[in-house]
Amino acid sequence: MSGDLTISKDAGKEILYAELMPQIEHLVADETDLVANLANIVAALKEAMDFLWVGFYLVKAGELVLGPFQGPVACTRIAHGKGVCGTAWKEQRTIRVHDVNQFPGHIACSSRSSSEIVVPVYKNGAIAMVLDIDSEHQAAFDLVDEQYLTRLAGIIENKVL
Ligand code: SME
Repeated sequence: MSGDLTISKDAGKEILYAELMPQIEHLVADETDLVANLANIVAALKEAMDFLWVGFYLVKAGELVLGPFQGPVACTRIAHGKGVCGTAWKEQRTIRVHDVNQFPGHIACSSRSSSEIVVPVYKNGAIAMVLDIDSEHQAAFDLVDEQYLTRLAGIIENKVL
């Protein structure tokens, strides 16, 4: 599948996510390549939402390694338990950070990042990757983001991995 996304201009994020989810499902439906699908997912999120950085860090040989992303260049490897991503991996939970400067050990890939959400993606009960999203705005991520991005993680687990 290729082509333009259908996204309402100036809509609230709940509407944007609701519009985006079925389109992402459609986007990955007929493609089996992992990198191709993750690349299109981050492109769709970046295009639809007001995010600074959207990307995946994949679990590889005991560390997180940068995968498909959109936004400023980023650090390539994150150790277990380090930064927001490594902490989400270690603690096996979604982490929302309202102010990255207040998160002990936050890894600042871009000085423009103000808040962040990291959502684990599971495969056979273990974390296979994390979805990391940064915003230039403080406290940009709330339960609406967490719920939709958790749903997206489920789509990835069931249809992409
Ligand atoms: N801030 C992340 C590092 C990755 S960048 O945001 C793209 C962290 O603390 O794990």
